[in-house]
Amino acid sequence: MEEIENKLKMLDPTRIPAHVAIIMDGNGRWARQRARERSDGHAEGVNSVNRITRFSSDLGIKYLTLYAFSTENWNRPQAEVDTLMHLIGWTIQRETPDLVANNVKIHILGETDRLPAEVRKSLLDGVEATAHCTGLNLLLCLSYSSRWELTRAAKIIAEKAAAGEINPADISEETVTEALSTNSIPDPDLLIRTGGEQRISNFLLWQIAYSELYFTPILWPDFDNSAYLDALLEYQSRERRFGKTSDQVKNPSII
Ligand code: IPE
Ligand code: IPE
Ligand code: MG
Repeated sequence: MEEIENKLKMLDPTRIPAHVAIIMDGNGRWARQRARERSDGHAEGVNSVNRITRFSSDLGIKYLTLYAFSTENWNRPQAEVDTLMHLIGWTIQRETPDLVANNVKIHILGETDRLPAEVRKSLLDGVEATAHCTGLNLLLCLSYSSRWELTRAAKIIAEKAAAGEINPADISEETVTEALSTNSIPDPDLLIRTGGEQRISNFLLWQIAYSELYFTPILWPDFDNSAYLDALLEYQSRERRFGKTSDQVKNPSII
Protein backbone atom coordinates (compact mmCIF):
# COMPACT_ATOMS: atom_id res chain seq x y z
CA MET A 1 0.00 0.00 0.00
CA GLU A 2 2.81 2.36 0.93
CA GLU A 3 4.48 1.48 -2.35
CA ILE A 4 1.34 2.55 -4.23
CA GLU A 5 1.10 5.78 -2.25
CA ASN A 6 4.71 6.62 -3.09
CA LYS A 7 4.21 5.94 -6.79
CA LEU A 8 1.01 7.97 -6.78
CA LYS A 9 2.94 10.88 -5.29
CA MET A 10 5.45 10.65 -8.14
CA LEU A 11 2.72 10.72 -10.77
CA ASP A 12 2.09 14.11 -12.41
CA PRO A 13 -1.71 14.56 -12.33
CA THR A 14 -1.51 17.05 -15.22
CA ARG A 15 0.09 14.48 -17.53
CA ILE A 16 -2.15 11.46 -17.10
CA PRO A 17 -2.60 9.84 -20.55
CA ALA A 18 -6.07 10.41 -21.97
CA HIS A 19 -6.09 7.00 -23.65
CA VAL A 20 -4.39 3.79 -22.53
CA ALA A 21 -4.61 0.64 -24.66
CA ILE A 22 -3.61 -2.76 -23.29
CA ILE A 23 -2.75 -6.07 -24.93
CA MET A 24 -3.63 -8.34 -22.03
CA ASP A 25 -1.33 -11.30 -22.56
CA GLY A 26 -0.03 -14.12 -20.37
CA ASN A 27 -3.12 -15.76 -18.88
CA GLY A 28 -2.16 -19.21 -20.19
CA ARG A 29 1.39 -19.02 -18.86
CA TRP A 30 0.13 -17.77 -15.49
CA ALA A 31 -2.00 -20.93 -15.23
CA ARG A 32 0.76 -23.23 -16.48
CA GLN A 33 3.18 -21.89 -13.86
CA ARG A 34 0.67 -23.11 -11.27
CA ALA A 35 -0.08 -26.40 -13.06
CA ARG A 36 -3.64 -25.20 -13.57
CA GLU A 37 -5.96 -25.11 -16.59
CA ARG A 38 -5.64 -22.23 -19.08
CA SER A 39 -9.25 -21.34 -18.26
CA ASP A 40 -8.18 -20.59 -14.67
CA GLY A 41 -5.70 -18.10 -16.10
CA HIS A 42 -8.45 -16.41 -18.07
CA ALA A 43 -10.70 -16.29 -15.00
CA GLU A 44 -7.89 -14.71 -13.03
CA GLY A 45 -7.34 -12.29 -15.92
CA VAL A 46 -10.88 -11.02 -15.40
CA ASN A 47 -9.88 -9.86 -11.90
CA SER A 48 -7.10 -7.83 -13.49
CA VAL A 49 -9.57 -6.32 -15.96
CA ASN A 50 -11.82 -5.23 -13.08
CA ARG A 51 -8.91 -3.86 -11.05
CA ILE A 52 -7.31 -1.95 -13.93
CA THR A 53 -10.65 -0.56 -15.11
CA ARG A 54 -11.44 0.73 -11.62
CA PHE A 55 -7.97 2.22 -11.15
CA SER A 56 -8.02 3.87 -14.61
CA SER A 57 -11.31 5.47 -13.69
CA ASP A 58 -9.92 6.66 -10.32
CA LEU A 59 -6.87 8.15 -12.08
CA GLY A 60 -9.07 10.16 -14.46
CA ILE A 61 -8.06 8.30 -17.62
CA LYS A 62 -10.74 9.01 -20.24
CA TYR A 63 -10.31 5.97 -22.52
CA LEU A 64 -9.15 2.45 -21.70
CA THR A 65 -8.98 0.03 -24.63
CA LEU A 66 -8.59 -3.65 -23.80
CA TYR A 67 -7.67 -6.31 -26.35
CA ALA A 68 -9.75 -9.21 -25.05
CA PHE A 69 -10.10 -11.53 -28.05
CA SER A 70 -8.43 -11.20 -31.45
CA THR A 71 -9.62 -12.38 -34.85
CA GLU A 72 -6.71 -14.83 -34.73
CA ASN A 73 -7.86 -16.16 -31.33
CA TRP A 74 -10.74 -17.91 -33.16
CA ASN A 75 -8.05 -20.41 -34.22
CA ARG A 76 -7.53 -21.62 -30.64
CA PRO A 77 -8.93 -25.01 -29.58
CA GLN A 78 -12.72 -24.87 -29.63
CA ALA A 79 -12.98 -25.65 -25.89
CA GLU A 80 -10.81 -22.63 -25.04
CA VAL A 81 -12.80 -20.37 -27.40
CA ASP A 82 -16.03 -21.56 -25.74
CA THR A 83 -14.63 -20.90 -22.26
CA LEU A 84 -13.48 -17.42 -23.25
CA MET A 85 -16.83 -16.56 -24.84
CA HIS A 86 -18.73 -17.77 -21.79
CA LEU A 87 -16.41 -15.81 -19.50
CA ILE A 88 -16.75 -12.62 -21.55
CA GLY A 89 -20.56 -12.74 -21.65
CA TRP A 90 -20.89 -13.63 -18.00
CA THR A 91 -18.37 -11.02 -16.83
CA ILE A 92 -20.07 -8.18 -18.71
CA GLN A 93 -23.41 -9.19 -17.21
CA ARG A 94 -22.00 -9.41 -13.69
CA GLU A 95 -19.98 -6.19 -13.89
CA THR A 96 -22.48 -3.91 -15.62
CA PRO A 97 -24.14 -2.60 -12.39
CA ASP A 98 -20.71 -1.79 -10.97
CA LEU A 99 -19.66 -0.07 -14.19
CA VAL A 100 -22.82 2.05 -14.10
CA ALA A 101 -22.12 2.93 -10.44
CA ASN A 102 -18.64 4.03 -11.48
CA ASN A 103 -19.92 6.03 -14.47
CA VAL A 104 -18.03 3.81 -16.95
CA LYS A 105 -19.31 3.67 -20.53
CA ILE A 106 -18.80 0.43 -22.47
CA HIS A 107 -17.98 0.38 -26.19
CA ILE A 108 -17.44 -2.77 -28.24
CA LEU A 109 -14.99 -2.90 -31.14
CA GLY A 110 -14.75 -5.88 -33.46
CA GLU A 111 -16.63 -8.27 -35.68
CA THR A 112 -19.42 -8.91 -33.19
CA ASP A 113 -21.44 -10.94 -35.73
CA ARG A 114 -19.04 -13.79 -35.07
CA LEU A 115 -19.77 -13.85 -31.33
CA PRO A 116 -22.35 -16.31 -29.94
CA ALA A 117 -25.82 -14.72 -29.76
CA GLU A 118 -26.01 -14.82 -25.94
CA VAL A 119 -22.63 -13.10 -25.63
CA ARG A 120 -23.71 -10.44 -28.12
CA LYS A 121 -26.86 -9.92 -26.06
CA SER A 122 -24.89 -9.43 -22.80
CA LEU A 123 -22.61 -6.97 -24.58
CA LEU A 124 -25.48 -4.99 -26.09
CA ASP A 125 -27.21 -4.90 -22.70
CA GLY A 126 -23.99 -3.59 -21.16
CA VAL A 127 -23.58 -0.94 -23.87
CA GLU A 128 -27.18 0.16 -23.45
CA ALA A 129 -27.07 0.25 -19.64
CA THR A 130 -23.92 2.39 -19.62
CA ALA A 131 -24.79 4.62 -22.62
CA HIS A 132 -25.49 7.60 -20.35
CA CYS A 133 -22.23 7.29 -18.40
CA THR A 134 -19.77 10.16 -18.73
CA GLY A 135 -16.66 8.91 -16.91
CA LEU A 136 -14.16 6.40 -18.22
CA ASN A 137 -14.83 5.03 -21.71
CA LEU A 138 -14.05 1.32 -21.69
CA LEU A 139 -13.41 0.04 -25.21
CA LEU A 140 -13.51 -3.76 -25.38
CA CYS A 141 -11.92 -5.28 -28.48
CA LEU A 142 -13.66 -8.58 -29.18
CA SER A 143 -13.16 -10.58 -32.34
CA TYR A 144 -11.05 -7.58 -33.28
CA SER A 145 -8.04 -7.20 -35.50
CA SER A 146 -6.60 -4.09 -37.02
CA ARG A 147 -6.49 -5.56 -40.53
CA TRP A 148 -10.17 -6.49 -40.25
CA GLU A 149 -10.91 -2.92 -39.16
CA LEU A 150 -8.83 -1.34 -41.95
CA THR A 151 -10.38 -3.62 -44.57
CA ARG A 152 -13.82 -2.63 -43.32
CA ALA A 153 -12.82 1.05 -43.49
CA ALA A 154 -11.70 0.57 -47.10
CA LYS A 155 -15.12 -0.91 -47.93
CA ILE A 156 -16.97 1.94 -46.19
CA ILE A 157 -14.97 4.56 -48.11
CA ALA A 158 -15.26 2.70 -51.42
CA GLU A 159 -19.03 2.46 -51.02
CA LYS A 160 -19.24 6.21 -50.35
CA ALA A 161 -17.14 6.89 -53.43
CA ALA A 162 -19.27 4.57 -55.55
CA ALA A 163 -22.41 6.33 -54.31
CA GLY A 164 -20.90 9.69 -55.26
CA GLU A 165 -20.81 10.88 -51.63
CA ILE A 166 -17.07 11.39 -51.66
CA ASN A 167 -14.56 12.24 -54.34
CA PRO A 168 -11.55 9.85 -54.24
CA ALA A 169 -9.25 12.86 -54.57
CA ASP A 170 -10.66 14.22 -51.29
CA ILE A 171 -9.91 11.10 -49.24
CA SER A 172 -7.76 12.26 -46.33
CA GLU A 173 -6.36 10.83 -43.11
CA GLU A 174 -9.55 12.09 -41.45
CA THR A 175 -11.68 10.07 -43.90
CA VAL A 176 -9.83 6.90 -42.90
CA THR A 177 -9.92 7.76 -39.19
CA GLU A 178 -13.69 8.29 -39.36
CA ALA A 179 -14.22 4.93 -41.05
CA LEU A 180 -12.50 3.06 -38.21
CA SER A 181 -14.44 1.66 -35.26
CA THR A 182 -12.55 4.11 -33.01
CA ASN A 183 -13.75 7.05 -35.18
CA SER A 184 -14.17 9.93 -32.71
CA ILE A 185 -11.88 8.51 -30.05
CA PRO A 186 -8.42 10.05 -29.70
CA ASP A 187 -5.44 7.80 -30.49
CA PRO A 188 -3.89 5.89 -27.57
CA ASP A 189 -1.17 7.83 -25.78
CA LEU A 190 0.21 4.69 -24.19
CA LEU A 191 0.10 1.08 -25.37
CA ILE A 192 0.96 -1.55 -22.76
CA ARG A 193 1.59 -5.22 -23.52
CA THR A 194 1.90 -7.63 -20.62
CA GLY A 195 3.27 -11.17 -20.82
CA GLY A 196 6.72 -10.48 -22.23
CA GLU A 197 6.12 -10.64 -26.00
CA GLN A 198 7.26 -7.59 -27.92
CA ARG A 199 4.77 -7.50 -30.77
CA ILE A 200 1.51 -5.81 -31.68
CA SER A 201 -0.51 -8.88 -32.77
CA ASN A 202 -2.80 -7.01 -35.18
CA PHE A 203 -3.96 -4.39 -32.65
CA LEU A 204 -4.83 -0.77 -33.55
CA LEU A 205 -2.13 -0.47 -36.25
CA TRP A 206 -3.39 2.87 -37.56
CA GLN A 207 -4.19 4.36 -34.15
CA ILE A 208 -0.83 3.63 -32.47
CA ALA A 209 1.20 5.56 -35.07
CA TYR A 210 2.51 7.85 -32.30
CA SER A 211 1.68 5.95 -29.12
CA GLU A 212 4.33 5.30 -26.52
CA LEU A 213 4.94 1.55 -26.32
CA TYR A 214 5.52 -0.23 -23.00
CA PHE A 215 6.29 -3.94 -22.77
CA THR A 216 6.41 -5.74 -19.45
CA PRO A 217 7.18 -9.41 -18.66
CA ILE A 218 4.49 -9.37 -15.96
CA LEU A 219 1.70 -11.81 -16.86
CA TRP A 220 -1.74 -10.22 -17.18
CA PRO A 221 -3.26 -11.84 -14.04
CA ASP A 222 -0.31 -10.45 -12.04
CA PHE A 223 -0.60 -6.94 -13.50
CA ASP A 224 -1.61 -5.00 -10.41
CA ASN A 225 -2.02 -1.28 -9.67
CA SER A 226 1.63 -0.98 -8.75
CA ALA A 227 2.71 -2.43 -12.12
CA TYR A 228 0.25 -0.11 -13.85
CA LEU A 229 1.71 2.89 -12.04
CA ASP A 230 5.19 1.83 -13.22
CA ALA A 231 3.92 1.95 -16.80
CA LEU A 232 2.32 5.37 -16.26
CA LEU A 233 5.48 6.74 -14.62
CA GLU A 234 7.59 5.43 -17.50
CA TYR A 235 5.14 7.10 -19.91
CA GLN A 236 5.53 10.40 -18.08
CA SER A 237 9.32 10.16 -18.33
CA ARG A 238 9.19 10.02 -22.14
CA GLU A 239 9.40 13.03 -24.42
CA ARG A 240 6.80 12.86 -27.18
CA ARG A 241 8.25 14.72 -30.12
CA PHE A 242 5.84 13.90 -32.98
CA GLY A 243 8.63 14.45 -35.49
CA LYS A 244 9.84 17.72 -34.01
CA THR A 245 13.16 18.38 -32.28
CA SER A 246 13.56 18.17 -28.53
CA ASP A 247 14.24 21.94 -28.41
CA GLN A 248 10.95 22.64 -30.17
CA VAL A 249 9.07 20.44 -27.74
CA LYS A 250 10.61 22.24 -24.75
CA ASN A 251 10.01 25.66 -26.30
CA PRO A 252 6.96 25.64 -28.59
CA SER A 253 7.68 29.20 -29.74
CA ILE A 254 10.60 27.89 -31.85
CA ILE A 255 9.37 27.52 -35.44
C1 IPE B 1 -4.21 -13.54 -23.20
O1 IPE B 1 -3.57 -14.60 -22.60
C2 IPE B 1 -5.69 -13.75 -23.31
C3 IPE B 1 -6.17 -13.95 -24.68
C4 IPE B 1 -5.46 -13.89 -25.77
C5 IPE B 1 -7.59 -14.21 -24.83
P1 IPE B 1 -3.12 -15.88 -23.42
O2 IPE B 1 -4.21 -16.88 -23.40
O3 IPE B 1 -2.64 -15.50 -24.78
O4 IPE B 1 -1.91 -16.37 -22.53
P2 IPE B 1 -0.53 -17.00 -23.00
O5 IPE B 1 0.08 -16.07 -24.01
O6 IPE B 1 -0.84 -18.35 -23.59
O7 IPE B 1 0.27 -17.08 -21.75
C1 IPE C 1 -3.00 -11.02 -28.32
O1 IPE C 1 -2.59 -12.09 -27.54
C2 IPE C 1 -4.48 -10.94 -28.36
C3 IPE C 1 -5.10 -10.60 -27.09
C4 IPE C 1 -4.51 -10.21 -26.00
C5 IPE C 1 -6.54 -10.66 -27.10
P1 IPE C 1 -2.17 -13.49 -28.19
O2 IPE C 1 -1.62 -14.31 -27.12
O3 IPE C 1 -3.29 -14.05 -28.98
O4 IPE C 1 -1.02 -13.01 -29.21
P2 IPE C 1 0.01 -13.84 -30.07
O5 IPE C 1 -0.78 -14.76 -30.92
O6 IPE C 1 0.89 -14.59 -29.12
O7 IPE C 1 0.76 -12.82 -30.84
MG1 MG D 1 -0.80 -15.00 -25.53
